[in-house]
Amino acid sequence: MFLRRLPINRLPSVRVASFSAAIVRPATVSLTALRFNASITNQQAPHPKAVKDALTKTDDKSPLNSKDYVLFHPVYSPEELAATKYTHREVKGVQDTIAFSLVTIMRAVFDYSTGYVDKTGIMTEKQWLNRILFLETVAGVPGMVAGMSRHMRSLRLLRRDHGWIHTLLEEAENERMHLLTFMKLKNPHDFDWPDIRGPFFRAAVLLTQGVFFNFYFLCYLLSPQTCHRFVGYLEESAVHTYTLCLKDIEEGRIKHWGTQPAPEIARFYWQLPDNATVRDVVAAVRSDEADHRDTNHVLAGLKADDPNPVA
Ligand SMILES: [Fe+2]
Ligand SMILES: [Fe+2]
Repeated sequence: MFLRRLPINRLPSVRVASFSAAIVRPATVSLTALRFNASITNQQAPHPKAVKDALTKTDDKSPLNSKDYVLFHPVYSPEELAATKYTHREVKGVQDTIAFSLVTIMRAVFDYSTGYVDKTGIMTEKQWLNRILFLETVAGVPGMVAGMSRHMRSLRLLRRDHGWIHTLLEEAENERMHLLTFMKLKNPHDFDWPDIRGPFFRAAVLLTQGVFFNFYFLCYLLSPQTCHRFVGYLEESAVHTYTLCLKDIEEGRIKHWGTQPAPEIARFYWQLPDNATVRDVVAAVRSDEADHRDTNHVLAGLKADDPNPVA
């Protein structure tokens, strides 16, 4: 699945990478030229940010604006979105068993404590949003912890990283973009939200982040492979959940997400057409989760100094 999907999915995203590169590169070249000229004429070169600001100023009215800060990420064709399916990697050996058991237990506890029912036609829009918003605040943790750990390892051991750090940071940012996108549908800081009061939601996020960040960091120091396998299985679960959500949009209790316009930030990020709906956004998020699943299952099978084949 991964080897077939990834090159196809990553091809269109070159557009995004090129878009960023087109913005950054002229600034870099011009800055070099300005420094060179300044050294000749003995004048002070302008501050780098001033040069970059001047060179990147356009009429782009995107919500992330032309000086986009987003990292490399996939952009999908309609066929690729439709082709995304739930897959499960067979559990083999001790590490896989630990990782899969942890995901199963954590999911069961979370589902039970939040009253989640793993069926279509039951969850309301508010219940879906509560669940998605909370879980996306957690989903952005593993990539950042892993990227940070490998960055520190590279510094500590005076060794190169072999291309893992960027992939991991891209995953973390991609999860944060999921959160920012769904926040456009409902702001979790709204006190009038009947299901989750603002302070309760924020306290839950704070507590979970504090516990999960440190737990995952310690685990990553002990066994990075098990951690990547854990994320691989976690993302399998995410693909399953978003598939149920899509079914609820298409035939269940939240049909209007099939006609509600996609938030602008999502249309820009996934390069969606102007008439894109929230359903299209959920489909893109599901494809992202499938990419995280495949990527982490690949990384889980590598040694720490193996080159990253996903980069
Ligand atoms: Fe996500
Ligand atoms: Fe994910």
